[in-house]
Amino acid sequence: MIKSICCIGAGYVGGPTMAIIAQKCPNIKVTVVDLNEERITAWNDKDVHNIPIYEPGLSEVVAEARGRNLFFSTEVDKAIDEAEMIFISVNTPTKTYGVGKGMAADLKYIELCARQIARVSKTNKIVVEKSTLPVRTASAIKDILDHTGNGVKFQILSNPEFLAEGTAVEDLHSPDRVLIGGDSSEDGQIAVQKLVDIYANWVPKDKILTTNVWSSELSKLTANAYLAQRVSSINALSELCEKTGADVNEVARAIGMDSRIGSKFLKASVGFGGSCFQKDILNLVYIAKSYGLNEVADYWEQVIIMNDHQKRRFAKNIISTLYNTVSGKKIAFLGWAFKKDTNDTRESAAIYVADDLLSEQANIAIFDPKVDEKQIQYDLNYLETRTNEANKNGISVFKNPYETCKDAHAIAILTEWDEFKTLDWQNIYNNMLKPAFVFDGRNLLNKKELEKIGFVYQAIGS
Ligand code: UDX
Ligand code: ADP
Repeated sequence: MIKSICCIGAGYVGGPTMAIIAQKCPNIKVTVVDLNEERITAWNDKDVHNIPIYEPGLSEVVAEARGRNLFFSTEVDKAIDEAEMIFISVNTPTKTYGVGKGMAADLKYIELCARQIARVSKTNKIVVEKSTLPVRTASAIKDILDHTGNGVKFQILSNPEFLAEGTAVEDLHSPDRVLIGGDSSEDGQIAVQKLVDIYANWVPKDKILTTNVWSSELSKLTANAYLAQRVSSINALSELCEKTGADVNEVARAIGMDSRIGSKFLKASVGFGGSCFQKDILNLVYIAKSYGLNEVADYWEQVIIMNDHQKRRFAKNIISTLYNTVSGKKIAFLGWAFKKDTNDTRESAAIYVADDLLSEQANIAIFDPKVDEKQIQYDLNYLETRTNEANKNGISVFKNPYETCKDAHAIAILTEWDEFKTLDWQNIYNNMLKPAFVFDGRNLLNKKELEKIGFVYQAIGS
């Protein structure tokens, strides 16, 4: 029985996952470490509502377990030394330089972790890959660990995380399945069993799948590629609906009731975002290419091409509807996060739509209930389209939606926050320039109600 776990990386994956393991396994000491001091300080904040990651229900879980058997620390070496099992949950962004630039995963953080584990470990360890990794990363980690020369034995498991942000606590409490990949050797299978035993504290046995390491790694990429493909497929149809007079919501409903297709992930939108979909598909494409499988690579790459098109088309439509110029016009953005119920903005469609509109010299006013100005500026600066100064001058960030929309020419809905549905839309209309446009990138609002007030309302795919 494992008694002590360490997790390297206190982000969107490591933080929530370890909080739930600690909650469900009070006999296991769980220490989450991160190099980022600010992040750890926030995890340890006396007021659990100040933890750095917003997820419904997470503060309550942290309140229950923190200080009992859940700890957050910056002492990485100490935590590695004390743990029998080490989860690696560090970030694996897409490479921004060198071979595979813009496509392959940057594994430098993973490699640094492996080297650190190798240097510090004095006893045998089970190392669990939690971050989404390209296929065959485990063998790289194993290479590094096995050549430390201090006689310590390592087993490497792949245990990809399938939680979706915004529903992380629910997803972790009752996952559709838990996937654990391990080596077929006897030692490998013992390690797999130890991790199975941890999850078995709250997950039904028939939902815990064990596979070889490569299948587990590839399944994670495949699951995300399939989900993203559904969104790109419905988004591709949304454009056709707009041209033909069909309504994409009606089409989605009609096909979703076919039990072979199912109703989930058929919501047409301004485009998918998040840290996983694009990165994982690009990984899949890169792996396919590296094996010379060009048709396979092209097939999956089209999912990304469609998604980029959808974001760009949304911005173009705003510009052309506003009489082909947005220069000097105030465009209000409601939402910046990549989906509701999270403060994560990675790859959010809002960033790219804003970028296109800034290039046309629009003034963008932004409100998101969980994202602050610093983050928004960081996201835009990261694209390096213009100077940081120009980004700063082009946007203004507000703390309430009414101020954001005041005197605006148009409103763009970029995130499907529930609270946007119940705003006082009459009040917003009264304070806007006329004609008052709403571009609903999430098909969130009620067309009839808004048109009755006087808005010119455009949704995706109808
Ligand atoms: C995803 C996977 O769902 C999860 O299993 C994996 O572990 C990580 O990647 P996440 O990125 O948190 O999770 O969010 P998800 O709910 O999958 O949404 C991704 C994007 O697709 C969001 O921008 C969302 O708004 C968009 N989306 C989703 C749509 O546009 N339409 C839909 O019907 C569904
Ligand atoms: P994810 O969504 O995959 O959880 P995040 O970026 O939210 O990604 O979290 C990854 C975390 O890993 C970051 O807080 C980062 O500081 C941390 N990290 C990266 N490399 C190391 C390392 N070598 N040691 C400790 N923490 C690390």
